[in-house]
Amino acid sequence: MPITKICCMGAGYVGGPTCSVIALKCPHIRVTVVDKSSERIAQWNSAKLPIYEPGLDAVVQKCRGRNLFFSTDIAQAIEEAELIFISVNTPTKRFGNGKGRAADLKYVESAARMIAEISAGDKIVVEKSTVPVRAAESIMNILRANHKPGVSYQILSNPEFLAEGTAIDDLLNADRVLIGGEESPEGQAAIEELCKVYEHWIPRKNILTTNTWSSELSKLAANAFLAQRISSINSLSAVCESTGADVSEVARAVGLDSRIGSKFLQASVGFGGSCFQKDILNLVYICECLNLPEVAAYWQQVIDMNEYQKSRFSAKVIESLFNTVTDKKISILGFAFKKNTGDTRESPAIHVARTLIDEGAKLHIYDPKVEESQIMSDLSNCGAILEPELVKSRVSIFKDAYSATKNTHAIVVCTEWDEFVELDYKRIYAEMMKPAYIFDGRKILDHDKLQKLGFIVQTIGKKIECQKLRGSGKIKLKIEEKWYRYHFEALS
Ligand code: NAD
Ligand code: UDX
Repeated sequence: MPITKICCMGAGYVGGPTCSVIALKCPHIRVTVVDKSSERIAQWNSAKLPIYEPGLDAVVQKCRGRNLFFSTDIAQAIEEAELIFISVNTPTKRFGNGKGRAADLKYVESAARMIAEISAGDKIVVEKSTVPVRAAESIMNILRANHKPGVSYQILSNPEFLAEGTAIDDLLNADRVLIGGEESPEGQAAIEELCKVYEHWIPRKNILTTNTWSSELSKLAANAFLAQRISSINSLSAVCESTGADVSEVARAVGLDSRIGSKFLQASVGFGGSCFQKDILNLVYICECLNLPEVAAYWQQVIDMNEYQKSRFSAKVIESLFNTVTDKKISILGFAFKKNTGDTRESPAIHVARTLIDEGAKLHIYDPKVEESQIMSDLSNCGAILEPELVKSRVSIFKDAYSATKNTHAIVVCTEWDEFVELDYKRIYAEMMKPAYIFDGRKILDHDKLQKLGFIVQTIGKKIECQKLRGSGKIKLKIEEKWYRYHFEALS
């Protein structure tokens, strides 16, 4: 029987955009997105959506009230739907077994229990959240142990590959849609039903069907591979800074090999976002549980390298500012984990800002899409590292880049927002303390031009010669001496 009603549990960065696009492309399907947070649902039903995502407003405006609904009535939406997406959060566990690494499946489990409690007819339950391999088995156990007479379930795995900031485009033009299910005739029939939904806009050849476990593992693997590329290029950025090689040139030369490819080789202050770290930690934990310590250590290194990169960049800022930032004013441009999103989860800007506050700096922060309350909470709440009072006394939030940079000693670019490239740096330089520094953590600025204006520029993966800094000759000599010694020893 073709699907006519879909329920999505979880109105977040995945559930909201995914179901909006399904509603857009399948006008005959009634899509209801539910969430236990009434605040979030109210925002989805308002003019200001809870997430910023290019193109999303237009899709929601077109479909909302037609065949797209946002509701807190979870029970009714479950009851009506033939197919239910579980798109709830799966954060890293904060306590107990697997703390700091394993995925916390409590929200998935509570969603499954609610489905079992409400359902009076057959359902296809689709795991869209990113989960450990064999999580579908746990969902199935909960559903089958609690099912009502005559009700049967099929569990599918249909991981989501969208990236924030490009979610609508990623959903409309997905490289592939992945659907995993049981190999039984019932499992295959359920896969077919979900295929038919996607086939309204995704060519059949791009819809990949696998067994459930392959599908679950492929999601973790894809994120691990992507993050691994960033850590690989970031590791080489450190070598570049010490040798005179330029990481952009290296990335280009390497990426032109069609076997390697050019994407995801942009060296940076480090990767952020809600997925990469969480999913790799989860993979590491799974490997440890499977008694595969070498595999676990291999993937753990991707995370370790990312931590190293964030610390290395923060240390570079401090060292360059004469090894002390106490009471210096530093502007942070960009707080989101990447451009075109207001999401700050695991943003490298948090790491940089916390380190600088810890060293006594006063921060002027500006991000085009992140709310002040979010920045303050990110800097105060995590891990009890900083007291909220301390953060309040050291951090000011600004509404534009010009006021944020005025009278500061240095600018640190943490997010690659396009508007930072377009700024009038002559004006900015004139209003900064001297010497004026720029630390480009995203490699988006024109460094030659900035140097000509008088800035002292530092970036990732490139040694920028600096004429103006007294003593820099000495530092340079020291680094070169170390390098030549190493080279000589290696040759002899
Ligand atoms: P999110 O935190 O933005 O949204 C999850 C929502 O689920 C929250 O609003 C929460 O209130 C709601 N929720 C939790 N339990 C619920 C329940 N029992 N009933 C109803 N609602 C409930 O999370 P997200 O970023 O959308 O991620 C969701 C899943 O998708 C995660 O597993 C994540 O790893 C995965 N994923 C995320 C992205 C991304 O870019 N954010 C991309 C691919 C996959
Ligand atoms: C990622 C995956 O790309 C997506 O497929 C998955 O569904 C969710 O996780 P997301 O985290 O939203 O998406 O953004 P992504 O574009 O992957 O960027 C993640 C982080 O890596 C950002 O901080 C970004 O700035 C950084 N990055 C990305 C780099 O530092 N260099 C690069 O070359 C690419």
